[in-house]
Amino acid sequence: MSFAANESVHVRAPGKINVYLGVGGRHDDGYHALATVFQAVSLYEDVIARHADGFSLTVSGVEDPDAVPLDDRNLAMRAAKLLAAAAEYPGGVALEIRKSVPVAGGMGGGSADAAAALVACDALWGTGFPQARLHDLASRLGADVPFALHGGTAVGTGRGDQLNPALARGRFDWVLVMSEQGLSTPVVYGRLDALRDEEGALADDPPLSLDVPIPVLQALRSGDPELLAESLHNDLQAAAVFERPDLAETLRLGIRAGALHGIVSGSGPTVALLCSGPESAQEVQSVLRESGLDPLHVHGPVPGARII
Ligand code: C5P
Repeated sequence: MSFAANESVHVRAPGKINVYLGVGGRHDDGYHALATVFQAVSLYEDVIARHADGFSLTVSGVEDPDAVPLDDRNLAMRAAKLLAAAAEYPGGVALEIRKSVPVAGGMGGGSADAAAALVACDALWGTGFPQARLHDLASRLGADVPFALHGGTAVGTGRGDQLNPALARGRFDWVLVMSEQGLSTPVVYGRLDALRDEEGALADDPPLSLDVPIPVLQALRSGDPELLAESLHNDLQAAAVFERPDLAETLRLGIRAGALHGIVSGSGPTVALLCSGPESAQEVQSVLRESGLDPLHVHGPVPGARII
């Protein structure tokens, strides 16, 4: 393996929405069986990697600097060190992260940072790992990291990390409503388990393997937002709304403002409202703004982590 000497490498990776998220039973490792469809949207994390002897990290674009750890708890830092170990690279990297995806928002911002760090360090160090090897490292970092590498629209099974591309025609317009306060992913999964336990012994155990329903894939293939709106579903939504009851009101407001349908993204608290097109999204955005919310118009699908 030869180590090339780029000065610095700038990589951009997208946040995601889960347009469908089915959660099955809990495996012994604590992870739940998933069947999900990810869509990468036009809200990006930027990671710039520069040569350094050791490993360091700076983060900008966050209101609360304490919200993002700068040590080994940070997924991008772990990604850089994992790649260095796998490639037996003797040096380090100074990573600069410019965040736009909300922290702990259910949009995979930390996973996008990790995917971007893998691609950036691979190019900076001249590691030259094939995509499949980067995917393998990504899945060891977290369930959503392989998708941030891949981008577009994809079906995730297993823990969400076994990916298959899904055909999606056209473009889908979303209005995102972020929250200042994030939600912890493990807390939301734990709440789902507790709600399911309360449902009682009469309910069947959730399955340990599950599929994405065909109508979801058909709707994506058709490119018709009205069809996709009928198929949006998130098994984590009840648990996220239990933790944050105000999200139910945000969903109601969005639909009243003209969105086709709304969903909590991943484990929340970001709410994603699907609109019939760009004009409708702008209208929904301005109505929600008048209600004191801070909505953002994005579109998907967009590509995964790439050098710019
Ligand atoms: O893999 P990631 O770091 O994104 O997962 C964060 C947490 O979310 C896990 O520790 C687990 O509590 C929960 N999780 C889960 N089942 C999945 C993915 C995540 O229970 N398939």
